[in-house]
Amino acid sequence: MRHLLSAGDLSRDEATLILDTAGELAQVGDRSVKKLPTLRGRTVVNLFYEDSTRTRTSFELAAKRLSADVINFSAKGSSVSKGESLKDTALTLQAMGADGVVIRHSASGAPHRLANWIDGSVLNAGDGTHEHPTQALLDAFTMRARLGRLEGLRVAVVGDILHSRVARSNVLLLTTLGAHVTVVAPPTLMPVSVHTWPCQVSYHLDEVLPESDVVMMLRVQAERMHDSFFPSVREYSRNYGLDRERLNRMPGDAIVMHPGPMVRGMEISAEVADSPRCTVTEQVANGVSLRMAVLYLLLGGS
Ligand code: CP
Repeated sequence: MRHLLSAGDLSRDEATLILDTAGELAQVGDRSVKKLPTLRGRTVVNLFYEDSTRTRTSFELAAKRLSADVINFSAKGSSVSKGESLKDTALTLQAMGADGVVIRHSASGAPHRLANWIDGSVLNAGDGTHEHPTQALLDAFTMRARLGRLEGLRVAVVGDILHSRVARSNVLLLTTLGAHVTVVAPPTLMPVSVHTWPCQVSYHLDEVLPESDVVMMLRVQAERMHDSFFPSVREYSRNYGLDRERLNRMPGDAIVMHPGPMVRGMEISAEVADSPRCTVTEQVANGVSLRMAVLYLLLGGS
């Protein structure tokens, strides 16, 4: 494996190797000196054309924990504002000796284009509405850590499926790993092609909740909407928001997940977000180990 572009490219063995490696590397975070020399002398570029809090900082921390040199490149404040193309930007960074490029871009497919232009490894950190493979991997890692298995797990992914790269990557990865996924959304926020996805489809959250081991709530991505997809926030929340009453309808040991950023009061109530059954902060912590594993296996491991 040279690049990580899509969760759908991973075989069951490859995905399991990444999760197992992340489990071993998680121990580095418990040490007083949180560093390994594994990627000393390697250079990782974080190339972010879209905003990010979790993905960008955790890729940076992961690379630094493996002793790589890290360059953080943000389109804002760079020569992109003067009209420089993605290709010329990438070739410039490669000329500086980048071994790995972590890219987030608003255009679906941008990481695939980049992989054709540069010699180093390309890691997709979220491309448009297409994929976010390391998010799906850290989500799978968190489910396995909390519930002890992925095989046969019933996972509901709820919300703005239409604009979500997290949903597509999770459906592809979790299915490969033996889980059963149901996507839940209002009809206007369900992709037309959803019936070609390897998952069940539902428009009724209340029917799906009692049958779910994991309920993954997604943010409504207003920044990608150029139209009105539902009458009001209040109505969306009433039909598809997760509050205490709905949490109580889930099996007793079922967990709530969210990739972040959360909009409290819309897709998830503050009470549920702060509940011990919600794994949001665990997902963030696991994201560092998971991204260490991916960088290690792509840039330094055997
Ligand atoms: N989950 C996620 O991708 O968060 P950021 O947009 O903050 O990176």
